[in-house]
Amino acid sequence: MAILFSFIFCVFFVASSLFAVDVQQQVPLIKDGDVDLIYELKKAEIIPTVIDTFIPLATLNITWSNATAHYGNTVNPSLTQSVPNVMLLGSDSEPFISSKHPQVVVALTDPDAPSRDNPEWSEICHWVVTALPNKAADGTVEMRFPDGVEEVMEYKPPGPPPETGKHRYVFVAMVARNGTMDELHLKKPADRQHWGYENEREGLRGWMGEMGLEVIAANFIYEQNDEQ
Ligand SMILES: *[C@@H]1O[C@H](CO)[C@@H](O)[C@H](O)[C@H]1NC(C)=O
Ligand SMILES: *[C@@H]1O[C@H](CO)[C@@H](O)[C@H](O)[C@H]1NC(C)=O
Ligand SMILES: *[C@@H]1O[C@H](CO)[C@@H](O)[C@H](O)[C@H]1NC(C)=O
Repeated sequence: MAILFSFIFCVFFVASSLFAVDVQQQVPLIKDGDVDLIYELKKAEIIPTVIDTFIPLATLNITWSNATAHYGNTVNPSLTQSVPNVMLLGSDSEPFISSKHPQVVVALTDPDAPSRDNPEWSEICHWVVTALPNKAADGTVEMRFPDGVEEVMEYKPPGPPPETGKHRYVFVAMVARNGTMDELHLKKPADRQHWGYENEREGLRGWMGEMGLEVIAANFIYEQNDEQ
């Protein structure tokens, strides 16, 4: 099953910029080609609906065998049935893993269930994984699922219902807000719907707050049912 899935983190950014108290003053430029991530997230209203604005410290690369997430491209649900590969690419050549070992958490959430106009089931938690990356010889980090990768919430492939238009499927990478090097004790979200919280549009933000995490990278796709 998921055994063959390779889960890869390639992280090159500087630990000090990630955990420094004055992180707000440092604005590393994370660009994937000409994509301005924060601009795209705001345009899609993922900021502020799903997450607050943040300083991107890495590029989150999400790929399936026949599909890639590219900041709002549209992907057919049939192509995202299996667990995707995840890579985290930093902005600096210095491998942050060399001195510190922050645990990374990656999540996938749908704020548009059953539809963007009627998000009463939202957010839906589709996936939460966490890993404590190991350093590779060349300074990059490579992880093969499930070795060292813990699935906090099992992957539920995006499955937008018929006639509900385009759903935003949002991936985020997170680290401990306080920069702890200790292992995180992550609680499995109580439910997929609303991530177990009370209200419409609650989810990732609440869980992230409860777990003491902050976003360092994001990516997203649109998917819709063939039947519209
Ligand atoms: C992301 O992964 C895809 C597929 O492996 C690759 O073609 C692309 O260059 C990667 N993007 C970055 C920024 O490395
Ligand atoms: C990806 O595309 C190739 C070529 O069309 C096909 O053989 C393969 O089954 C596809 N894989 C998935 C997971 O859809
Ligand atoms: C840092 O945050 C983690 C995760 O929320 C928590 O478990 C830990 O107790 C915190 N450590 C300190 C020193 O505040």
